[in-house]
Amino acid sequence: MGEGINDYTKNIVDLRRHMWMDGIEVELRRLIWQIAVVGKYISAKIHESNRKLAGFKNIYGEEQLALDRVTDDILKNKLQHSGFVSHYASEELEDIVAIGCGQEKYIVTADPLDGSSLVDTNLSIGTIIGIHNKSIFDSGRNSMVAALYITYGPLITMIYSAGKGAHEFVLDREGEYVLSEENIQLKEKGSIFSPGGLRRDWTAAHLKFIEKLEEDGYKLRYSGGFVPDINQVLIKKGGLFTYPALKKSPQGKLRLLFELQPMAFIMEQAGGLATDGKEDILSLKVTSVNQRAPIYIGSAAEVKMAGQFLSQ
Ligand code: F6P
Ligand code: MN
Repeated sequence: MGEGINDYTKNIVDLRRHMWMDGIEVELRRLIWQIAVVGKYISAKIHESNRKLAGFKNIYGEEQLALDRVTDDILKNKLQHSGFVSHYASEELEDIVAIGCGQEKYIVTADPLDGSSLVDTNLSIGTIIGIHNKSIFDSGRNSMVAALYITYGPLITMIYSAGKGAHEFVLDREGEYVLSEENIQLKEKGSIFSPGGLRRDWTAAHLKFIEKLEEDGYKLRYSGGFVPDINQVLIKKGGLFTYPALKKSPQGKLRLLFELQPMAFIMEQAGGLATDGKEDILSLKVTSVNQRAPIYIGSAAEVKMAGQFLSQ
């Protein structure tokens, strides 16, 4: 075995084997696997975009499609032929679309390339997926069966939960998603915070809460990409991400269906919490695909503390 190459004679657990050992239902397992494979195609597209960064023009002089549109097409096409998905809803589309024949079990929501505007800065970006087995126009608690996200950074990692814990996989050089951490569990309290929105737009109560975290010595860790910012809280086993209600936009910025519900599903499975400052994110009823909500997500102590500040 060459250095750095996985030794497959050893007991390496890959994504498919892990889901099988976890007893996840076969169609859901296949669907999660197919989405993880799409992550490889998306990462290839991100790599292709380096030609644009390097100043290359499309040889036909055509406008190149934005990366987030391309990734949405890849995902939609792949799911269309999966046989498991009846409907697809994505940040890139106006509305939910029927992509199956109606008999399929699942509805998939996607933020195909979160943080795509960061691609030129070489910061990490991600794909966020929610999987529902009932109408998405309900609370996540009632309709969600699984969620996953992929982080495209120095490494490509994937975290999924099908309701039996949250598990991390790393895409290795042979193209396998290899288990790197099983059953991620957050501590009760962390030491980092990641606050979205401009300070001058925060409400008085939110500002007081953030000042308290600063007084308590929490370290600022904010990249501006939702996926890596959440991933940091999960992998460091605690801390808080928030994108709050703003004075001019009381519903904050982030989308309930595409961004917040999947991350809340995973965070709860890791023993953390996710609220809008009051209610659990997974208890909020979705009434439109464009719905937004404020979010406080991470380890229990900080999320509960936010709730106390906001109720004063
Ligand atoms: O998808 C929205 C997003 O790009 C997230 O990745 C990120 O958390 C947020 O917006 C940052 O927003 P802003 O820079 O406008 O505060
Ligand atoms: Mn996004």
